[in-house]
Amino acid sequence: EMTTVHTIEALQGLIDRNKQEGRTVGFVPTMGFLHEGHLSLVSQARKDNDLVVMSIFVNPAQFGPGEDLEAYPRDAQRDAQLAGSAGVDILFMPTPEEMYPHEGGIKIVPGPQASALCGASRPGHFDGVLKVVLKLVNIVNPDCSYFGMKDAQQLAIIETFVRDFNLRTSIVRVPTVREQDGLAKSSRNVFLTAKEREEAPVIQQALQKGVAVFNDGASSEQIEKIVADFITINNLGVIDYVSLLAYPALTKYDGTSKEIILACAVKFGKTRLIDNIIMSTK
Ligand code: PAJ
Repeated sequence: EMTTVHTIEALQGLIDRNKQEGRTVGFVPTMGFLHEGHLSLVSQARKDNDLVVMSIFVNPAQFGPGEDLEAYPRDAQRDAQLAGSAGVDILFMPTPEEMYPHEGGIKIVPGPQASALCGASRPGHFDGVLKVVLKLVNIVNPDCSYFGMKDAQQLAIIETFVRDFNLRTSIVRVPTVREQDGLAKSSRNVFLTAKEREEAPVIQQALQKGVAVFNDGASSEQIEKIVADFITINNLGVIDYVSLLAYPALTKYDGTSKEIILACAVKFGKTRLIDNIIMSTK
């Protein structure tokens, strides 16, 4: 039986009791409108821990002016149903007032990793992500925290944050869950029109094409161009970026890093979709 709580105090009471009884805690932070991507984080957390805590909180701090904070899809009842069936033990659904009762003005500013990729078109976005992740990790105190590789830049920045500031939680990377046709599952996919939804799988196809030409020895610039052309020719998609970078540093790939990321953001109408492929080079 899943327990849903809305206050930090109630959540911490439950977690403290479980910890006293020696249970390990796995944490899955989300913004809700759950899909199989989120649920795959839960099933990994379920395997690794005695107790699974999920948060659902549409974090105002990570939305910029003119972004989709108000329009972000929400369905608390359906989410609770899905979370319960997936094996969440405690569901934490705080209000914005509970999470941000007063502001002391302290900022958390990520390093150069946040200037690349989505950081370039969403200034301050990762400040807001780190702020809420720090708060949530301090509130929940989890042994392990689960993040999807779908948001590879977010994951890379959070791994750096945890290491640089000695947060006592292990970050677990979970692979991207996709639709049958390769489109990465996303809460925002519901905004796509039928035509856009039909075309959106081109993103993953283009990235796979990019991997193939990388393996044939193409340069970063050549790969980025091939991927961008593949997405835009005969499609509604408008490229925000296509980038091949060292991962998780998110610096220019100079042939030395063990992992690289080929990532893109594409707008289909008003909907901005992101996807990536991470490759090991050794
Ligand atoms: P949200 O977009 O709801 O995603 C919650 C978690 O689910 C993230 O770790 C994300 O990478 C993962 N996820 C989303 N789609 C996925 C997919 N198709 N396959 C695998 N994992 C997927 O990311 C956020 O919320 C927020 O920024 C948050 C970390 C909760 C901070 O507010």
